[in-house]
Amino acid sequence: MKLHVRSTDWAEHVAEAVIARLRARPELKLCLPTGLTPVPVYQRLAAAVGARRVSFRSAEVVLLDEFGGVSADDPGRCDRMLERDLLAHIDLPAERFHRFDLTGDLEAACAAHERAVGDGCDLALLGLGTNGHIGMNEPGSATDSLTRRVELAPETIAASQRYFGHDRLPTWGVTMGIGTLRRSREIWLLATGPVKAAVVRDTLLAPISAEKPSTLLRDHPCALLVVDNEAAELLPVTGSGQPAL
Ligand code: F6R
Repeated sequence: MKLHVRSTDWAEHVAEAVIARLRARPELKLCLPTGLTPVPVYQRLAAAVGARRVSFRSAEVVLLDEFGGVSADDPGRCDRMLERDLLAHIDLPAERFHRFDLTGDLEAACAAHERAVGDGCDLALLGLGTNGHIGMNEPGSATDSLTRRVELAPETIAASQRYFGHDRLPTWGVTMGIGTLRRSREIWLLATGPVKAAVVRDTLLAPISAEKPSTLLRDHPCALLVVDNEAAELLPVTGSGQPAL
């Protein structure tokens, strides 16, 4: 896993790299997360589409995860968040967005998602939970896990209050597995702010273990951890102040 430490320009850096990938391969298959971290990246991607610098017309977007047991129009749902933050502002055809249909058979929905991923996404953008979760792969998730139903950790349930704005918080969800994500050609893990500093350090330095799911991506051949200065503040540094990793 490579490390990129950026200052306040981190989102521009990531958005420009996504734009470059899309220009080189218009049919790019992207796994996209929700949460607060990627929002500045999505704003820049939306602006680039608006300025006709890039198009998602031929791309595919696979949603990383979804909360279960919440109503279809709840604004805290992952598909609603992604629509609001990105999809409403870009030219991705609706049928090229793979969301989870949780109204029927859950196993069938997870199998359909695995089929949509196929031999792997070209690029998986991911956020990072403070307990090391990736998507909704909570501590204990296996390195070869596939898309499946998961129970949420208490801290993840509490953190989801930021998205829901009410107190009927979900206790479970469905997520692409660590194994599903490891099929990606490239994985970019994003973490910003001081609240992510400890998990950033552990992602790079703790023993590789299911107890810290983000460590399970460390030996992926094309994994990149992009952090801002605040999220990098617990990393060991060299004499010149640069991370010694
Ligand atoms: C959401 C997701 C989660 C978040 C993580 C960090 O699709 O995959 O794993 O990335 O909980 O959330 P934020 O970015 O809100 O700190």
